[in-house]
Amino acid sequence: MSAILQVSGLTKRFGGIVVADDITLGLLPGEVVGLIGPNGAGKTSLFNLITGVIKPDAGRIVMDGVRIDGLKLSERAKLGIARTWQHARSFRSLTVLDNLLLGARDYPGDSLLRTLLQPGISRRMDMEAEQRAMLLLERVRLAHKAHDLAAELSYGQQKLLGMARALMSEGACLLLDEPMAAVEGRTYAIMREVIEQEAHRGQAVCIVEHNVGFIRDLCSRGVFMAAGKVLADGPVEELMKMKDLTALYFGAAA
Ligand SMILES: Nc1ncnc2c1ncn2[C@@H]1O[C@H](COP(=O)(O)OP(=O)(O)O)[C@@H](O)[C@H]1O
Ligand SMILES: [Mg+2]
Repeated sequence: MSAILQVSGLTKRFGGIVVADDITLGLLPGEVVGLIGPNGAGKTSLFNLITGVIKPDAGRIVMDGVRIDGLKLSERAKLGIARTWQHARSFRSLTVLDNLLLGARDYPGDSLLRTLLQPGISRRMDMEAEQRAMLLLERVRLAHKAHDLAAELSYGQQKLLGMARALMSEGACLLLDEPMAAVEGRTYAIMREVIEQEAHRGQAVCIVEHNVGFIRDLCSRGVFMAAGKVLADGPVEELMKMKDLTALYFGAAA
């Protein structure tokens, strides 16, 4: 099976800090990969490089056979890269539903010209996007909050909204940056269910998560990073057995 997303030799320095040091990583359709490692390892930076928030100094990123590392953020999103943010970024003064519509891939609101020239088509696309958004809100159990302001959501609900926003673009590659952090109980279960459903549909999912139990339960593969380097890539059980990695991880996390 060939990778949906293939990163090779990706390197990025900020002054003296190497946040990505010759990273090579492939994500296959239908797999959930756990990206683990101590704080400051470069996990979020890797997502920023893949999505186009920051530019690499060297290396290549290929999505479905297309080289994307020179493309803009929005172009990469159109090709199917979706993400959630470590620190939830919802538009607090907009409704929950409008937060999702902003994330819609072909939402006509972003093209005034198209709206003016083709009002009928735009309205139909509006309705399609809204239907898709409502279905997603049902999946993350927020449909009853659709018309509330995002500011009124609890922390866990904000995380679920972030997840639903990422799914609006229907990307084939989902990068989830600590979606479970400080989330428990029902929210945890909903998040887990959604991630499993996406993988089952063939999306490649990469998830940054510190909860080792969760990684063990959900991820078919683990990638361990420290100081911008991928130190290990393989079955989670095998990573857990690597004494030097656990010492590095728990040593640094403590
Ligand atoms: N825009 C930036 N400018 C300078 N340094 C940065 C920037 N983004 C991240 N870093 C640094 O890169 C390192 C890796 O950070 P990050 O990718 O957030 O790690 P992680 O997500 O694994 O905790 C840290 O030392 C961080 O301070
Ligand atoms: Mg991070």
